[in-house]
Amino acid sequence: MITKKSFISLAFLLIASIAFAQGNFSGVQLKQSAALPQLLINGQPFLILGGELGNSTASNIKYLNQYWSHLKAMNLNTLLVPVYWELMEPNENKFDFSLVDSAIAGARQHEMKIVFLWFGSWKNSMSCYAPLWMKTNAKRFPRTFDTAGRSQEIFSVFGSATLEADKKAFATLMKHIRETDAAKKTVIMMQVENEIGMLPTAREFSKTANNFFNEKVPPELINYLQKNKNTLVPEFRAGWEKQGFKLNDTWRNTFGEGVATDEIFQAWYYAKYTNDVTLAGKKEYDLPMFVNAALPRPGKLPGQYPSAGPLPHLIDVWQAAAPALDMLSPDFYNPDTKYWCDLYTRNNNTLFVPEMQFDQTVPAKAMFIIGHYKALGFSPFSIESENKTSSSLAKSYDILHQLTQFIVNKSWLNMDGFILDKQNKSTSLKMGQYNLRISHDATLSWSSESKDSVWSTTGGIILQTAPDEFLVAGSGFVVKFENANENLVTNIASADEVTYINGVEMKGRRMNGDQDHQGRHISFGVGDWGIQRVKLYNSAALD
Ligand code: DGJ
Repeated sequence: MITKKSFISLAFLLIASIAFAQGNFSGVQLKQSAALPQLLINGQPFLILGGELGNSTASNIKYLNQYWSHLKAMNLNTLLVPVYWELMEPNENKFDFSLVDSAIAGARQHEMKIVFLWFGSWKNSMSCYAPLWMKTNAKRFPRTFDTAGRSQEIFSVFGSATLEADKKAFATLMKHIRETDAAKKTVIMMQVENEIGMLPTAREFSKTANNFFNEKVPPELINYLQKNKNTLVPEFRAGWEKQGFKLNDTWRNTFGEGVATDEIFQAWYYAKYTNDVTLAGKKEYDLPMFVNAALPRPGKLPGQYPSAGPLPHLIDVWQAAAPALDMLSPDFYNPDTKYWCDLYTRNNNTLFVPEMQFDQTVPAKAMFIIGHYKALGFSPFSIESENKTSSSLAKSYDILHQLTQFIVNKSWLNMDGFILDKQNKSTSLKMGQYNLRISHDATLSWSSESKDSVWSTTGGIILQTAPDEFLVAGSGFVVKFENANENLVTNIASADEVTYINGVEMKGRRMNGDQDHQGRHISFGVGDWGIQRVKLYNSAALD
């Protein structure tokens, strides 16, 4: 009899062999699903517990090599590593892959995976990582100009030779990775470019750019708008609606006069360019690929922030122009995690957080982002830097690593994550017949609320593994379980500390008495990271 599991494996093998026959199949795939997106490596789901290197760290082999053991000790399973175009193609068509090869060798030696970041035409808006032979030839590789007419160190998106050079370099990189890594699959994803974003205006104003701007909106975008009219993100749809849903007019007439339209126009061409680079790379080796965005500060207008990148209000434009990309990803240097993650999980976009400021909040946020948004992974920025948070992140990642088998195989009925702090002291989750009231550990009457240290950002992840059974993990919170049916009173049957070693459950302490407040709730002190398996029972509320 063919079971569901063997059918899936057979289907995977079939797809794999067709693609393998075409020569570019990586065996790494993103399986999109609202319930649980999966990154599959040889058909096995993988959760990225990552970190991104500071910009210059991978530019010198010796410099990078000093960090591998430290990163391994922090329980990272994946490192996000820049590939610098200027060092990879110092002379036109002369490629040097020594940095790429040594990063792969370091990762293999430490049993880690790599996500490479292609610092190509743009890095944080600028073109600083493009090779000098390009930067010094503005005739062949045109730049943008500011409003005063001064040229910027930013390549114009309308430079066809620039696009060809980027495509060629990226495709050559992907070919090299296929030839040297397809068997071992150390490299599992690629970021194409880095934080694309137009400055200091929302669009380019060269003669070429103006000509394009005065043309009609390309039919490709119009077709997408028509097809997805009812599911466009509302802030983007509103601009089109205000103009009467035009289908055959200029950018200005279709979306209105102003910087918002300038940004949409520029986003279309940035996304098309990036799609071309992505396709050229995937043709050689089809790893999952994504782009990342610098998030704007509140209240800023297009042109005042790096504009036209893969931002939430432009998701439709990017998805229409760049179908080859698998994900649009946010970089976090602000505290508004929930706000932006909610925006980035619209339009079936799978969440992956490639950068987050490496501060004391990240260990809890890793649990929140993976538990609540079913993200493919998480990665604080400048992960190798001296940081007081490193040991807490190591503990958080250790727990996520232990729970990975349950998370990625969907061995749960419900899964969620949360963060708590002084402003957000408690939250509730509904799982099956239970309401879970979750509070920061510092809310307990015996906690000294006055001390700021007890209010550090805490959080956790909860998996309901059976109707009356939960795996609760994290640090710095208490959970009270209540039955949604008020005729029933819910009590803790048992709360056991558990750890998982190679997938096998090992029991720790029975957490009764003071540890579960004599049966009232389960608790994790601030800084005490752990997993508890909790079983519940219900009794009649009334006689
Ligand atoms: C976001 C960028 O993507 C990174 O490369 C780096 O420049 C950080 N900002 C700086 O904090």
